[in-house]
Amino acid sequence: MSNMQPILVSILCLIPLVFSEVLGQTEDACKELKCEWHGPAIQFPFRIKDKHPKHCGYPGFLVSCNERNETVLELPNIPVKFSVTSIDYKHQEIQLYDPDNCLSVKVLEIQNMTFSPFDIYTNDITLFNCSLVLEGSSAFDVPCLSSPGHHIYAIASSYYVGELRSCSKMYNRLSVPFCFYEPEALWLHWSEPNCTKCEAEGNTCRLKNNSTNSNEIECVLDLKKPSMSKTTKLVVTGELPYLMTLRI
Ligand SMILES: *[C@@H]1O[C@H](CO)[C@@H](O)[C@H](O)[C@H]1NC(C)=O
Ligand SMILES: *[C@@H]1O[C@H](CO)[C@@H](O)[C@H](O)[C@H]1NC(C)=O
Ligand SMILES: *[C@@H]1O[C@H](CO)[C@@H](O)[C@H](O)[C@H]1NC(C)=O
Ligand SMILES: *[C@@H]1O[C@H](CO)[C@@H](O)[C@H](O)[C@H]1NC(C)=O
Ligand SMILES: *[C@@H]1O[C@H](CO)[C@@H](O)[C@H](O)[C@H]1NC(C)=O
Ligand SMILES: *[C@@H]1O[C@H](CO)[C@@H](O)[C@H](O)[C@H]1NC(C)=O
Repeated sequence: MSNMQPILVSILCLIPLVFSEVLGQTEDACKELKCEWHGPAIQFPFRIKDKHPKHCGYPGFLVSCNERNETVLELPNIPVKFSVTSIDYKHQEIQLYDPDNCLSVKVLEIQNMTFSPFDIYTNDITLFNCSLVLEGSSAFDVPCLSSPGHHIYAIASSYYVGELRSCSKMYNRLSVPFCFYEPEALWLHWSEPNCTKCEAEGNTCRLKNNSTNSNEIECVLDLKKPSMSKTTKLVVTGELPYLMTLRI
């Protein structure tokens, strides 16, 4: 590191820069936090309710820590709670799980609902109640609805259901976020704010105006991440190739 610093400084001297203790401190309020040591790191566009100040997050991107220190996604219009497995900030995806271990049943309750500000992949599915175990079937077993002697299966409504002929059809659920490839995980994607480029460059994405009134974001060069010490923070101002500003 000692031989890295002179090189960095000489590059940065070519451009206007501000050494700002004040900005350094406000950013510290927005530093990544976790609900528990193993939990996902929460940073912009998300913030943790009651732990991060409001301006640290983008509107709609809120998580909280529950009594078991799990990270819970706050979705105001969704009546069920999901916990966060991981967040991929570069690809803007969040993976959820059901803390009660029955995701497939939970998703059946959220038919036709919007996960705004997130996009979600949905399927129309049909449930069947079978007295026999279906071997090698394309139907998905829903263990938390099954009882001894009765197996509940979910299948895409458009599929051929010949193998389920001996079962009784229970009901259809339209437009539920059920993924046949990964039934115990729920993936959400977001496209706004778009911090993909900023994250890929290892920089810090944040609200431009330090307030929730503005939905403009900016990408700030963050030298702390790759090598420099915590106390040295360089905030670069001006129109620079790597200072990305998006208007939303
Ligand atoms: C949650 O985290 C707090 C603070 O780190 C700790 O004191 C508490 O024991 C944790 N609770 C559980 C259930 O792990
Ligand atoms: C789902 O949403 C569509 C369009 O908003 C609506 O026409 C339909 O009735 C809804 N279905 C249910 C079951 O809520
Ligand atoms: C499945 O069918 C059996 C027999 O009709 C019934 O007792 C059981 O409650 C059904 N299971 C569900 C989840 O509806
Ligand atoms: C996000 O921005 C990048 C370039 O900065 C662009 O390639 C990508 O298509 C954008 N994604 C969305 C979902 O708008
Ligand atoms: C920042 O937000 C304040 C209100 O909170 C507004 O008056 C001001 O014009 C904004 N500045 C910029 C540069 O957008
Ligand atoms: C950002 O907001 C915090 C409090 O919300 C304030 O103390 C700080 O001065 C602001 N910084 C800038 C650069 O506006």
